[in-house]
Amino acid sequence: MSSDQVQIGVIGGSGLYHLDNLTFIKHVNPETPWGFPSSPISICSLPSGARVAFLARHGTGHSINPSAVPARANIAALKSLGAHTVLAFSAVGSLREEIAPGDFVLPTQIVDRTKGVRPASFFEGTSVVAHAAFGDPFSTKLVQWLEREVAKALEGRGVKLHTDKTIVCMEGPQFSTRAESILYRNWGCDIINMSVLPEAKLAREAELAYALIATATDYDAWRPHEETVTAAEVFKTLKTNAETSRHVAATILEDLHAADFLKDEVGSMKFSIMPRSEAQK
Ligand code: ADE
Repeated sequence: MSSDQVQIGVIGGSGLYHLDNLTFIKHVNPETPWGFPSSPISICSLPSGARVAFLARHGTGHSINPSAVPARANIAALKSLGAHTVLAFSAVGSLREEIAPGDFVLPTQIVDRTKGVRPASFFEGTSVVAHAAFGDPFSTKLVQWLEREVAKALEGRGVKLHTDKTIVCMEGPQFSTRAESILYRNWGCDIINMSVLPEAKLAREAELAYALIATATDYDAWRPHEETVTAAEVFKTLKTNAETSRHVAATILEDLHAADFLKDEVGSMKFSIMPRSEAQK
């Protein structure tokens, strides 16, 4: 392994622009066939000496809006550094009374409400026809591991963890209307963001084990007689959520590095590529 090589990549969302309790080694900025990642990637070392990569999804100064995030470059850059597993953080709105701002959520399903403007496949523009399995969009083993370990990391902090939830990913950058927010609730969605796609799809195509740790900032627009979400409201909880996210990452990364499922997705695309002869039938 070269010195930049990592097993785990961490993607920080709004408010989360660095990790704590890790030794910073250096910044790298790999150019991929899809361009440069959102920000230079920090290579850091865990107490054991193992290295992890950290990337700020929206750029270090939050300069990239969700529709413009270079998700292919981000995933390709982390993979080029050796990552097999990607742990992504994201601020989300809550579509359920019981998920309060400040709560953490581990979703297991995704509903796609992006508008087709985000390049969502590494195979676009190539002659390869690939249909990645996406029925379970997050790595099941990684999510199950996080359900245990994130719960432990949150103990005593007064932060609730919700599991097995559905996230809807909207295009933005404007927030939803009240009607849309109610519609997503009726569809069975529990939380909403603008960032989990195409990131999760691309991680699957890149054979990376991927999971999302979602941090609730607001109640979106569905509550009758309440104000609808504003950016100012989201900002109110971002700082505390980011502090808790850094605590969670610092608590779990060492054990995650030793987990035996990090490379489980490797080879998963083997049966997703249409053989030429099948494609011509
Ligand atoms: N990110 C944080 N809160 C959100 C909301 N209400 N809608 C979409 N993305 C969000």
